[in-house]
Amino acid sequence: MGERRALVLFLVTARLVACGEVGLATPSVDYVSAVGDPGMRRDALRLALESWNQCNEVGEETQHMGSPRYADCFDVYGASPAPNEKDCSLCSLLPYVLVHRVTEEDNNLGVGNQIPGGHPDMISEVDAYAAVKELYLGAKCQVEDVPNPWHFWMIMLKNGNMDTFASMCPKNGQKAGPFGPDSSFPCFGKGCMNHPVVHHDYTTLQGPDLTTLRGRFFGTWDLDSDARLSADNGNSSFFSVTWEKQLGKGSWVFHHVLRTSSKYPWLMLYLRSDASSGLSGGYHYPTRGMSKIIPESPNFIVKFTLNVIKGGGPGSQFYLLDIGSCWKNDGRPCDGDVTSDITRYSEMIINPDTPAWCRSDSLGACPPYHTFPNGTIVHRNDTARFPYSAYHLYCSPGNARFPEAPSAPCDPYSNPQPQEILQILPHPVWSDYGYPTARGQGWVGQPRTWKLDVGRLSQSLYFYQDPGSPPAKRRWTSVDLGTEIFKQSGQVAEWTVSDFDILLTNVRR
Ligand SMILES: *[C@@H]1O[C@H](CO)[C@@H](O)[C@H](O)[C@H]1NC(C)=O
Ligand SMILES: *[C@@H]1O[C@H](CO)[C@@H](O)[C@H](O)[C@H]1NC(C)=O
Ligand SMILES: *[C@@H]1O[C@H](CO)[C@@H](O)[C@H](O)[C@H]1NC(C)=O
Repeated sequence: MGERRALVLFLVTARLVACGEVGLATPSVDYVSAVGDPGMRRDALRLALESWNQCNEVGEETQHMGSPRYADCFDVYGASPAPNEKDCSLCSLLPYVLVHRVTEEDNNLGVGNQIPGGHPDMISEVDAYAAVKELYLGAKCQVEDVPNPWHFWMIMLKNGNMDTFASMCPKNGQKAGPFGPDSSFPCFGKGCMNHPVVHHDYTTLQGPDLTTLRGRFFGTWDLDSDARLSADNGNSSFFSVTWEKQLGKGSWVFHHVLRTSSKYPWLMLYLRSDASSGLSGGYHYPTRGMSKIIPESPNFIVKFTLNVIKGGGPGSQFYLLDIGSCWKNDGRPCDGDVTSDITRYSEMIINPDTPAWCRSDSLGACPPYHTFPNGTIVHRNDTARFPYSAYHLYCSPGNARFPEAPSAPCDPYSNPQPQEILQILPHPVWSDYGYPTARGQGWVGQPRTWKLDVGRLSQSLYFYQDPGSPPAKRRWTSVDLGTEIFKQSGQVAEWTVSDFDILLTNVRR
């Protein structure tokens, strides 16, 4: 995967295990965490990267890149041999040894390669292949735990270009024919929905004492400019995620950079905690991830430290938090049927340049009502009491039968199934949940550790269901943060994330 090679050990031998593992202890906690690595403190990192096209599929693999699912998962072994292990030859070479579980061969797997270990039929369809590759990488990275095993944090990349003439994306989950031209979707021509070239520096021990763990994924969607790619030059699209941690101390710090280009003006980069089994938000295949327990409203809190270094311009919809769930309009849980499953998203956008499209003279962009923490419900036509500026946008599921008029259906193409989106903005109405209450909070120059009562907030938010249907369980299979730079070229966003955790409240112990 690229010309840069790190010194990497791929061995997994019984002997090394006997060298004594370090850095695997879970810190003592007085809460129940839903994630496999509470607070990102585990030296032995589990990390993967996925790339999606406009409708959260692959469509076409990028040449020499294999299927767009990659991982960096390793264990750390100490130098001192265990008492009963006299011959620990590798232990004498380095104070600590990293043993990688995912090889370059694994990461390079793509359509045409048999996936090792028991998939008798070679999958020839690129979308299904990526899903199976994710399960394979998950199996290699899996950590046994209670009540469920878990796999990795997930870096998610998405290219917002859509070739409307190529008929690659279904419309609200139904096969759709070619259409266009449609200026609402950027596309420079054939092949505009491609995945990036991804370079991978496997995690190694670095620094003067070899006690800094560091690794990186980076690349570009501008395939013709990859040869000229370097950290931050030129005008081509670019992404980079560097992860770094001091051995045995503190949190991993994930440093993200995302740049849009004229050919790729709409790009997304998130760090996700996805369900470790089942379907995750916006994705209709079985998934692997970090959430060993799926948090359910109203009983969970999300904690993390965010430092936004560069905002990414006025079109950067920076999500302090993005949560993804799925239920059918009649309240039943999703089952993978893309015609009746509906992805439900809610996002807090912290870019102070993002306007409230919901206004008293634009009710279609507002949810039908707002619920205050004391349970008081205020309808959006109550101009004296409705908090319009707390909402950027509400859009209803494209297949909702009884949306309250006026209503704007969500983009029917950008998910494999219909979707519903509720985007909120910093406002005093969210103070009870620990969310930003004023524009600029948490933005550039204001790094902060957040402790958000996402469970109670997401319980109070409006989401559509058919009238009279029993309320759906709001189970959030994806919890993530990062930015979506929306149709603006030449913008750069840069930020770090650390200390991420999802804490379950109200747990019987
Ligand atoms: C990037 O674009 C700007 C403005 O179009 C141009 O002046 C500059 O030379 C370009 N840089 C590179 C490295 O191509
Ligand atoms: C509930 O909260 C809203 C907003 O703060 C306030 O206007 C209303 O009076 C409260 N209702 C009750 C019954 O306390
Ligand atoms: C506001 O909307 C509610 C619910 O649709 C309706 O019952 C009420 O009559 C409306 N009020 C006004 C002033 O339009």
